[in-house]
Amino acid sequence: MGTEGWLGGAYLWVKAFHIIFVIFWMAGMFMLPRYFAYHCQCAPGSDEDRKWIERERRLLRIIINPAMTMAWLLGLALVFNIGFGAGGWLHVKLLMVVILSGFHGALSKYRKAFARGERPKSETYFRRINEVPAVFIIIIVLLVVPKAF
Ligand code: HEM
Repeated sequence: MGTEGWLGGAYLWVKAFHIIFVIFWMAGMFMLPRYFAYHCQCAPGSDEDRKWIERERRLLRIIINPAMTMAWLLGLALVFNIGFGAGGWLHVKLLMVVILSGFHGALSKYRKAFARGERPKSETYFRRINEVPAVFIIIIVLLVVPKAF
């Protein structure tokens, strides 16, 4: 399965790199809300505030954004390889990754608010949303590996 699609012999390599970039993307999405939770503890304009602003900017620019882009590009290459009609599992998976990308967008919006010296949400809120990627990872992996429907 998969090697007969347009990717041919590259199929398993593309899938392997897809999973690698997914792991980097998820790792960043676990870290950023945690950074925001700690960032809430320091005063706007303080030295510590400036350090968190720089850490958050680098995490998003150097790891999260490139990893998401590569996960999507390689994922779409796999969609065209396997065919959009591969099964209900793929449709539900794509819905889940679109919602996860929306969560990414929300984190990016919070980063800009912190950089303006704002505290967009409470420390407790950021500790709670820290678990969101975990819920999506469980759902997505249980969809894409068994391909049960
Ligand atoms: C960003 C958009 C994404 C797209 C378009 C996408 C699409 C795909 C497709 C079409 C496959 C190949 C299925 C096959 O040929 O067996 C695949 C494999 C896989 N994807 Fe994604 N995916 C995306 C994101 C994710 C995310 C966020 C996760 C996990 C959190 C994930 C986990 C996996 C895993 C574990 C496999 C390997 C499944 C297997 O070998 O059976 N993907 N993906």
